[in-house]
Amino acid sequence: MTRRLYHVTTFGCQMNEHDSERIKGMLESLGYAESESRADADLILFNTCSIREAADSRFIAHLGEARRLKREHPERVVGVGGCWAQSVKDEVFRRFPFVDVAFGPGQVHRLAEFLTSDSLGAQGFFEFEGFTGHLPAKRARHHQGWVQISVGCNSVCSYCIVPSTRGREVSRSPDELIAEVERLACDGVREVTLLGQNVNSYGRDLSRGSRLTFAELLERVDAIPGIERIRYTSPHPKDMREDVIRAHATLRALCEHIHLPLQSGSSAVLKRMRRTYGRERYLDRVALIREHVPDCALTTDIIVGFPGETDGDFEQTLAVAEEVGFDGAFTFVYSPRRGTEAATMPDQVPHELKVERMERLVEVVQRRARERAQRFVGRTIEVLVEGPSRTDPSRLRGRSRHNKVVNFDGLGEPGELVDVTISAATSQTLSGVASLAARAAR
Ligand code: 5AD
Ligand code: SF4
Repeated sequence: MTRRLYHVTTFGCQMNEHDSERIKGMLESLGYAESESRADADLILFNTCSIREAADSRFIAHLGEARRLKREHPERVVGVGGCWAQSVKDEVFRRFPFVDVAFGPGQVHRLAEFLTSDSLGAQGFFEFEGFTGHLPAKRARHHQGWVQISVGCNSVCSYCIVPSTRGREVSRSPDELIAEVERLACDGVREVTLLGQNVNSYGRDLSRGSRLTFAELLERVDAIPGIERIRYTSPHPKDMREDVIRAHATLRALCEHIHLPLQSGSSAVLKRMRRTYGRERYLDRVALIREHVPDCALTTDIIVGFPGETDGDFEQTLAVAEEVGFDGAFTFVYSPRRGTEAATMPDQVPHELKVERMERLVEVVQRRARERAQRFVGRTIEVLVEGPSRTDPSRLRGRSRHNKVVNFDGLGEPGELVDVTISAATSQTLSGVASLAARAAR
């Protein structure tokens, strides 16, 4: 019997990439095999995102193709999972009658139930119950693993749809997480990224006896042989404490990079965003990071055009971007999301003004990132090889501990650590030559 084929398309954040690896692992344990193309698949899945309107519309275009493929072969199964599915729930079946199964981020395990059941009717699963982290994974990169330390989010940021798509925060037990990282290390994983909607609040919901703080969890993961690099995303500035910052200075594997979402440089806007920190607190966190880990790379997320954002508010965001000098930033135009508090706030900013502010912000962000990147020129840094360079296949591509993409001349297999001497830097990438001497095994 030929194996049934699946195809998964992933939108959105790293948590979704993680969930898709688990979806694939689960499908393979059910006997499915991955198909290169959507057109060949018996099971067509979309793991969706709903963070901004653009994310919705991009996905809906793909869904059109699935409708056509389903029409050609009606026995095909079309499934829609993730945050968009959760945010519209049963409406999915009304708007897209060719969809067979829909499931929220907390219901990935139910997909298996659906596929192995005899039911032919459309089914939707939207309770918050499981960790996808419990499912087997099929990793996209052999040497890189995601580890879901918690799901959900207890914050109430007024612009954000995530609390409603991923539910209340629930942490996984430390012993289970350590065992999972140990298994990953045995399996050849060199770099782990700990995932949670707010990693700093990890463990607060666990019982006293088994509870670890996030800093303690980092320490336990750092002690696991074979794990060369630890990353995490995302921390929340309100909960970012000195113990975690210090860990970047003291733990061998914890990378010199922190992604600390700013969202706005104006305390008035932050207040309306319900971020529960102000500009001063943010800058104070940055100062603390620079005090303990002077060379630490800092990246961020910034939203422009939040309702009521004045020219003065926006100037403050520009000023913080200028002052901090981020190594990189994801910049977003505010997008009203269904069911969120900010979507109905007065004084929505006109689109043209949002775009104009965005352009000004991007100019500052890129200029500062380019300036910051010059500090690497002339230095020899450790690069984890990922494969051939995307722009020039005769070169290799990898990532530094500071999370910079490095394109370089030299030899190295994916997953190997090589020393690269940097000769040029742009805002996004570094370029260099690998040292001839092989890196001593660590
Ligand atoms: N509009 C624009 N950007 C948003 N983000 C979250 N919600 C919205 C929204 N409604 C951004 C935030 C967050 C990142 C993942 O997406 O900056 O940190
Ligand atoms: Fe990730 Fe948020 Fe998109 Fe969900 S809505 S996939 S949590 S970015």
